[in-house]
Formats: sequence, C-alpha cells, structure tokens
Amino acid sequence: MIKIKPATATLHYSLIETLADTIWREHYIPIVGKPQIDYMLDKFQSVMAIEKQVEDGFEYFSIFYNGTLVGYISIKQETNALFLSKIYVLSYYRGKKIGKTAMEFIEQKANIYQLKNIRLTVNINNTNSIKAYEKIGFKNVGPLVTDIGNGFVMDDYEMVKLVRS
Ligand SMILES: CC(C)(COP(=O)(O)OP(=O)(O)OC[C@H]1O[C@@H](n2cnc3c(N)ncnc32)[C@H](O)[C@@H]1OP(=O)(O)O)[C@@H](O)C(=O)NCCC(=O)NCCS
Repeated sequence: MIKIKPATATLHYSLIETLADTIWREHYIPIVGKPQIDYMLDKFQSVMAIEKQVEDGFEYFSIFYNGTLVGYISIKQETNALFLSKIYVLSYYRGKKIGKTAMEFIEQKANIYQLKNIRLTVNINNTNSIKAYEKIGFKNVGPLVTDIGNGFVMDDYEMVKLVRS
C-alpha cells in the first residue's frame, strides 16, 4: 500500500537527506558525474537546504510503500503552475506505480491550489524518467539550462502536464 505524508520536521528532512544521498548518487553520477552530485546534494538536499526551501514555500512529502520510506516529493506553488521540484523513488521500488500514485497526489494538490498545470525539469539524459513522465502525461516544452554555481549547469528539459479538474 502506498501512503504519502507531509514531511515537516527536522527528523523527516534528515531521512530525506539520507534517501536523496542514496538515490542521487546511484542515479545521477553516471549522468553528470560525482563532483556535480556532491555539490548538488549539499546545495539542495542537506537538512539545512531543505529547511531553507520550506521557508521559501516548498512543501516536502515522504512516500511510504507498505510502511517503508521509499521516496519523496517536493512541490511549490507558482503563479501559473505547480512546480514539481523533486520526485524520487528508490530504484528497488520503481515500476510499482508509486510514481503514478505520487503524480495523482500532486494533481490533487494542483486542483486544491487552483493551478491548471504541473511543470518539472528533468536532465536531458535522464531517459527513463523522461519516458515515465511522458507515460504519465507530461509534454516536453523545450530545453532549459540553469547555472547552479561552481562551474556547474543543469542541462534540462522542461515538461508540462495539464491538470484534469
Ligand atoms: C521517475 C520515477 C519517479 C517514476 O516512478 P515509478 O514508481 O518508477 O513510476 P511508475 O511505476 O508509477 O510508472 C509510471 C508510468 O511510467 C512508466 N515507466 C516507468 N519507468 C519507465 C521506463 N524506464 N521506461 C518507460 N516507461 C516507464 C510505467 O510503465 C508507467 O506507465 P503505465 O502506467 O502506462 O504503465 C522513478 O522512476 C524515479 O525515481 N526515477 C529515478 C529518479 C529520477 O530521475 N527522478 C526524477 C527526477 S526529475
């Protein structure tokens, strides 16, 4: 059974920091290399970074599968869209409709916030996730390159999904 619960306390952020460390190293080092992932984990997924993001309006949620923490989500309300900043599931648990269930949860949030679109960014070489997003109903709207400092860039596509209401 899949459950999605708000992550609101330092303990939750600490568990997400550990989860991110596992998932990002396994998934992204082959795509962008270790130096960039060391930098990005510290900049975006340390407890301190998460606390700062929450102050800035990001909401974090933990995903449980049969009681085990297996993933997390982060979203932020924007003027014209709900920004899906993070969606990560441990590799062992992928392909079990956890991402799809999480996306239904995110659509409900978009409806509550009266936002008609969900948008996300995904690395242009993150092929499996792009395929999953396409199956879930996202459309690629073009490349988006973001300078994240220290000589690193995020080389992404932006993808958008129209929310059913
Ligand atoms: C992307 C991710 C969140 C999807 O979660 P998931 O639990 O594996 O996805 P689901 O099992 O719910 O699958 C959703 C749909 O995508 C499809 N799909 C999933 N992985 C796929 C793949 N590698 N290739 C093709 N289709 C895929 C599924 O078949 C399903 O479609 P269907 O219902 O029509 O059969 C997860 O794979 C993940 O964490 N990936 C690595 C981290 C990452 O890149 N995160 C995104 C950062 S932008």
